[in-house]
Amino acid sequence: MIVNADVVVGLQYGDEAKGKVTHHLCKSKKYTHVLRFNGGCNAGHTIYHEGNKFVTHHIPAGVFFGIKSIIGSGCVVNIDQFFSEVEGLKSAGLDIEGKIFIAKNAHVITDSHIDEENSESSIGTTKRGNGPAYRDKYARTGKRAEEVSELEEYLIDLYDEFHTDQPVNILCEGAQGFGLDIDFGNYPYVTSSHCTTAGALLNAIPYNRIGDVWGVGKVYETYVGSKDFEPDDEIFNQIREVGEEYGATTGRPRQCNWLNLDFLQKAINVNGVTKLVLNKADVLREIGIWKLVTDERTIAFSDEAEMNSFIEDKLALRDIYFSDDKNRI
Ligand code: IMP
Ligand code: MG
Repeated sequence: MIVNADVVVGLQYGDEAKGKVTHHLCKSKKYTHVLRFNGGCNAGHTIYHEGNKFVTHHIPAGVFFGIKSIIGSGCVVNIDQFFSEVEGLKSAGLDIEGKIFIAKNAHVITDSHIDEENSESSIGTTKRGNGPAYRDKYARTGKRAEEVSELEEYLIDLYDEFHTDQPVNILCEGAQGFGLDIDFGNYPYVTSSHCTTAGALLNAIPYNRIGDVWGVGKVYETYVGSKDFEPDDEIFNQIREVGEEYGATTGRPRQCNWLNLDFLQKAINVNGVTKLVLNKADVLREIGIWKLVTDERTIAFSDEAEMNSFIEDKLALRDIYFSDDKNRI
């Protein structure tokens, strides 16, 4: 077997800048495929490529590097959104011919899924029809991509694509994060898919061929949705402004909180993280306050170096990268 895979997962509530990490890893030229393994167009990947800003919802970041980019079987796809992304990439001058694929057994988000969510949404979803599309998938009443004739030229069978006599090296890119995972998140304030490394395996990836798992978080937390998340403190307004914490998909303000180190450790353990990236260190640096939560207490540090070494000691993980928003890791 010559299939190998690395995984990028979110360790918090989405918006950890996973796209930035994927984008960086794609530059290594190591990968033959990039696979989005869960979610729909609820996710928004903001990618800065050669000076241009792109927000993609469905198509993985590999496409910017001419790597085959696949929307996996764990995803749900809005066809209009998919085609508008294809057009957007084309009109930016990217050569995407033969590079974009959809697993034939991925499911389709229909207009009625979207209408349904727009009439009622108690947990504060992105209203993109995500939950109803997954519900219909599991109720066996959904529609697969292979039933949509317009998609024909993009369809692939993941088994046939990955299990060949050619070397295959896949970067699996998760959407959302551990705190929004259907099983591990704070139900019902969750999304409807599997956001962990386990979710990547469901796309014809053998468990024993996983190499590195890149876990991505921020040095503080954000969450978008209906539950109360942000403590009552002016500092979080500052974090939101400096960090530009507004949803890439819906523009909603993200609720902010300090980094919860115990929750991060749990996400690291469950995902089998081997490399950790903590983004947006420059936001706390600009504000000049460093705090985190552990053992249900909020701890303050006098500077960035002190907080970072506390995190390094506590997590006992060899490869931890603290990263600024604007710089690459
Ligand atoms: P849904 O995924 O649209 O069903 O929304 C479920 C929950 O996940 C809501 O709290 C959304 O705000 C949140 N969510 C879904 N996708 C993202 C994302 O890409 N970033 C951050 N939050 C998300
Ligand atoms: Mg995102």
